[in-house]
Amino acid sequence: MLETMVSTRLFFERFFAHLAAQVLALSLFWIPMAHHASTRLELRPRPARHPGEPIESIYPESLDFPTGFMWGVAVAGHQVEGDDTTSSWARWEATGHTQQVAGVAIDDWDLYADDMRLAAETGATAYRMSIEWSRVEPRRGVFDQAALARYVNMIDMCRSLGMEPIVTLYHFAYPAWLDTPTHGVTGPLQARGWARKDAVAEYSRFVKVVAKALKGKVHYWITVNEPNVEPALGYLLGIFPPGELSPIAYEAAIGHLEEAHVAAYDILHAEDPGCAVSTNMFRMVRRSGMRTTTLLPGLDPAQSMLDKLTHWRDHPGDPPRSTLDYIAFDYYYAFATLPEIFQARTYWKWPIYPEGLYDAAEYYYHRYHLPELVAENGMATHNDMPRKDGWTRSAFLVNHLYELHRAIANGVPVIGYCYWSLMDNYEWGSYAPTFGLYEVDRANGSLARIPTPAVAVYREIATSDSLPISLLSRYLGRKS
Ligand code: BGC
Repeated sequence: MLETMVSTRLFFERFFAHLAAQVLALSLFWIPMAHHASTRLELRPRPARHPGEPIESIYPESLDFPTGFMWGVAVAGHQVEGDDTTSSWARWEATGHTQQVAGVAIDDWDLYADDMRLAAETGATAYRMSIEWSRVEPRRGVFDQAALARYVNMIDMCRSLGMEPIVTLYHFAYPAWLDTPTHGVTGPLQARGWARKDAVAEYSRFVKVVAKALKGKVHYWITVNEPNVEPALGYLLGIFPPGELSPIAYEAAIGHLEEAHVAAYDILHAEDPGCAVSTNMFRMVRRSGMRTTTLLPGLDPAQSMLDKLTHWRDHPGDPPRSTLDYIAFDYYYAFATLPEIFQARTYWKWPIYPEGLYDAAEYYYHRYHLPELVAENGMATHNDMPRKDGWTRSAFLVNHLYELHRAIANGVPVIGYCYWSLMDNYEWGSYAPTFGLYEVDRANGSLARIPTPAVAVYREIATSDSLPISLLSRYLGRKS
């Protein structure tokens, strides 16, 4: 009884704290936040360059990346595999919640060998992919051994092509059966998906099976993709499965995703003590002077999650322990004005700000002192054209990698970078925004993979482990 009263009180405290923070944040949005520059690494400015001055006078040589730096390309199961009929997203699409359905996606489930070869041709030395829970466990407790074997093949193939696999265990799509509140869920709520009390136990069973099957084959794991994003979209705003509009479900999903990460961390380490495990946070920031700061002052779900996961207590009173071996983060854009926030519903209008990548890398290192992986960074266009504001994917790459190099030169231990994404894919509701290094021809249904000009640029960088002067002089500080 007492326990119930305490947890109810804690729930309301946490919920109202969030609410209050949001109201306050909205009212303060335009007041620039004080950023405590003195407690952070020195911000190293870009070297001054006079108009017309050749880049060689500033950087006589190429900018080299550390030996062993992972040049990655990223994909995720539901977005590329095709013919998914058993996941939460398959059901969500079938019930008319999206503009388009994923359908055959880009048929990577059948074409993965070719796709991996194309990945290797970009010069990539790492391949980020996900294992679809609903393919491996299409019915609760029933594991599809053939599907599992195919994932094992993919990972073997990845290694044989010289790419380090970076494996995500959960990337937005969970098995549809987790939406049926019938399996041992008790209590007043008819919870679905990650709001279910038993979601962590269900996920852990799947993780154990995968960890055993891939033992010794995978070093870098990502347990949960963007746990700071999915709860808001799926449980508060109702625009991702399960489509809840409930602060209670939102709070529950956050807590369960955190616990799911920790459970997976322990399972993976029990199987392979030397492996490296993380969860990638989406960096949601706005520009403030030369820095980026959280969108809502005092409220950054990513930061509170990372703080918690690096100081995890299994039971109250236990000493804290870290459940992150490295920090993984996704950086795409930084808002400067309120209209930009509204425009951002159109992916190819996201406000590009390469300096934000430097800032993110530096910020996380200052706070957590862990190695870092850029798990996603990429640019969407419409129909693979340059953006209306002139940005091309090649210029995007060079300018962002320049900023990442600057962070590394300033002491941040960045172990790798994954471009999102290898190929155009299903963008959670439609095929319109295209991020791919390879364009996928959907118009005539051939699904042919066509390299965009950015492939050659990425290859030049990845195979030389550097930003060559030729690319810097062509693209640095330019949109195209
Ligand atoms: C997600 C990807 C998505 C990308 C671009 C990230 O938040 O992890 O699945 O495709 O953003 O929208």
